[in-house]
Amino acid sequence: MVRTAGAAIEIRNVTQAFRSGGDDLPVLDNVSLSVAPGELVALVGPSGSGKSTLIRLLAGLDQPLFGSVSVDGKVVKSPDPSRSLVFQDPTLLPWRTVRGNVAIGPQARGVANRSKQRIDEALELVGLTDFADAWPAQLSGGMAQRAALARALVNDPPVLLLDEPLGKLDSLTRRVLQGELLRLWQERGFTAVLITHDVTEALVLADRLVVLSPRPARIREVVEIGLARPRDQSSPEFVQLRARILALLDEEATTPPDELEDVH
Ligand SMILES: Nc1ncnc2c1ncn2[C@@H]1O[C@H](COP(=O)(O)OP(=O)(O)OP(=O)(O)O)[C@@H](O)[C@H]1O
Ligand SMILES: [Mg+2]
Repeated sequence: MVRTAGAAIEIRNVTQAFRSGGDDLPVLDNVSLSVAPGELVALVGPSGSGKSTLIRLLAGLDQPLFGSVSVDGKVVKSPDPSRSLVFQDPTLLPWRTVRGNVAIGPQARGVANRSKQRIDEALELVGLTDFADAWPAQLSGGMAQRAALARALVNDPPVLLLDEPLGKLDSLTRRVLQGELLRLWQERGFTAVLITHDVTEALVLADRLVVLSPRPARIREVVEIGLARPRDQSSPEFVQLRARILALLDEEATTPPDELEDVH
């Protein structure tokens, strides 16, 4: 497989709201962020703040109410294999083998025959060569998530969108797959946006970490991680950075003063 150059992502003044029982539920409030080609950015923030809403806009699954999302200068209007999204749930088709699941993208584009070698390479990249003919029901959680990653990577996406991809895995498998993800990103060169609740995971993987406020999400802080990889989680710099982010998130989780006033 050739190395894919990552794409530049530009999120400009994005505001999003949903209709909820006749009222508008504001979810994203004027969010702007630029992600450089080949960069790995992690998004952290309270549950329900709007992280998945934002990544769905990047994937082109929804359109923002105001503002714009563009990739390499082109406004994102619909989903595209060049922007693959991997969820917490691997969502493999149970009636297709692992290889059959990985072949979905190339088949949809009518290039399955030409892509046979690429499908094999994607399976090899995630270490599933020996399980190519297995059924999803025969896989462990970690293996299923590897298959979901292969299904995304087979398209050679310049942008990989990851919405808590390791969220359901046990901590040991999670650590292993964090290493795999890092290796894949370093080898392939795509731009990655990773949503995670795990601050350590964000600090192990990302170039920058974006802290979002509670809903409606605003960008609270962008932290440049700036530590050499592989990162030593016990180094004073890492420990200090982690404490700082956790304190920020704790601050965000406390009730804002204007809401306290409403109560009284
Ligand atoms: N399609 C939708 N229609 C209505 N409301 C929605 C829709 N999608 C999301 N929401 C609401 O938007 C808010 C933000 O949801 P979102 O899934 O983006 O949060 P999140 O930060 O990803 O949370 P979590 O960390 O729990 O995954 C929630 O209040 C949710 O109920
Ligand atoms: Mg979410």
